[in-house]
Amino acid sequence: MPLAIITGGATGIGGAAVRKYASEGYDVALLDVNKEESLKLCQKEHPGSVAFFETDVRSRKRVEASIASAVEAFRPPSVLFANAGIQRLSSLFELRDEDIGASSCWVCQLEMGKRQ
Ligand SMILES: NC(=O)c1ccc[n+]([C@@H]2O[C@H](COP(=O)([O-])OP(=O)(O)OC[C@H]3O[C@@H](n4cnc5c(N)ncnc54)[C@H](O)[C@@H]3O)[C@@H](O)[C@H]2O)c1
Repeated sequence: MPLAIITGGATGIGGAAVRKYASEGYDVALLDVNKEESLKLCQKEHPGSVAFFETDVRSRKRVEASIASAVEAFRPPSVLFANAGIQRLSSLFELRDEDIGASSCWVCQLEMGKRQ
């Protein structure tokens, strides 16, 4: 089975993506800060095929560790959905360091790319 890595996969659009990929036969690594909702989705809906890696995507170290753990638990990923992102409308030039911004997406891409 291919592996999909999905950030912000506990709820909302990410949660829908987790369910869709799992229903299509993918293993899924769900990276999110919301432990309660993530575990509900993993354990109640897709035990075995969806695994939760508690991750704040603003932390490069945490992203690196979670993707490494996901590869160890499953295999190198085929899909990355870097969904946890900006939730504040602003121009690129007004982003603050604490915003979940573009950097979290490219850090995920980088860590995934290293494992291809
Ligand atoms: N819903 C919309 O209409 C819409 C429109 C355009 C863009 N977006 C973008 O799509 C993405 C998902 O939107 P949504 O409506 O499903 O949001 P949501 O708030 O329902 O879900 C976001 C998920 O990301 C997780 N998350 C939040 N901060 C995180 C962090 N630092 N690290 C890891 N996970 C984190 C949350 O726990 C949650 O599970 C966001 O990037 C949002 O900006 C949404």
